[in-house]
Amino acid sequence: MKKMIFALLVLLTIVSCSNNTQPSCSDECCKKECNTVIETIMTRRSIRKYTDQAVPRELLDKIAECGINAPNGMNAQQWEVRIVDNPEWLKNITEAQRKAAEGTPMAKQFQDPAMKNIFRNAPAVIFIAHKPGHCTQVDCGLMAGNMVLSAKSLGLGSIVMMGPLGFFSTEAGEPFLKSLELSEGYKLLLCVGIGYADEEPAARPRNKEVIKYVE
Ligand SMILES: Cc1cc2nc3c(=O)[nH]c(=O)nc-3n(C[C@H](O)[C@H](O)[C@H](O)COP(=O)(O)O)c2cc1C
Repeated sequence: MKKMIFALLVLLTIVSCSNNTQPSCSDECCKKECNTVIETIMTRRSIRKYTDQAVPRELLDKIAECGINAPNGMNAQQWEVRIVDNPEWLKNITEAQRKAAEGTPMAKQFQDPAMKNIFRNAPAVIFIAHKPGHCTQVDCGLMAGNMVLSAKSLGLGSIVMMGPLGFFSTEAGEPFLKSLELSEGYKLLLCVGIGYADEEPAARPRNKEVIKYVE
């Protein structure tokens, strides 16, 4: 009898563990969507204000790994990923761009005291480069999508950016591009800022009318 009760307990433990991928129905998430992936997609927002807390490298590793697991044309994986979490590097590039912008309309953005760096203040930035080709831009977009969603699911804020990359192709930006040590033929395409969010922006409106069934 004792053995039977023990076996029953073991079975119950196994069954309850195998259901752990779904939140229990008392969870807020379950009430709304009953699906944590959809919940993550619908609540992710671009974050432009971060706390000073550094992002642990284990989390950056996980986010980068999720990135390279994105679908990509013929699994050719013609992309490269560089992670920068060195505050000096981020400070130096921001200072270099501030200097280069002196006397231009760009100078204004550097007067904002809330501006910590040119990557929307993120304490870590993941650069994504591609080998220009048939579908590599799409591949990298999907990679960035995986990164922002995995960041959100790990309790981090994020933002996809293209704006700050223009500086890398200027004379003042060249040393920073070099420091990324991209392989021959690879070009910077986008970057993803990651950090602990210090704001909770509302969702920007989406136009649902772009979605139509074709009968
Ligand atoms: C390819 C791409 C480039 C972007 N570049 C920038 C950028 O340079 N600076 C910025 O503040 N946001 C940038 N964004 C973020 C968008 O502004 C943001 O995703 C959009 O306004 C929707 O808001 P949400 O992400 O909060 O839903 C970029 C997003 C994408 C996908």
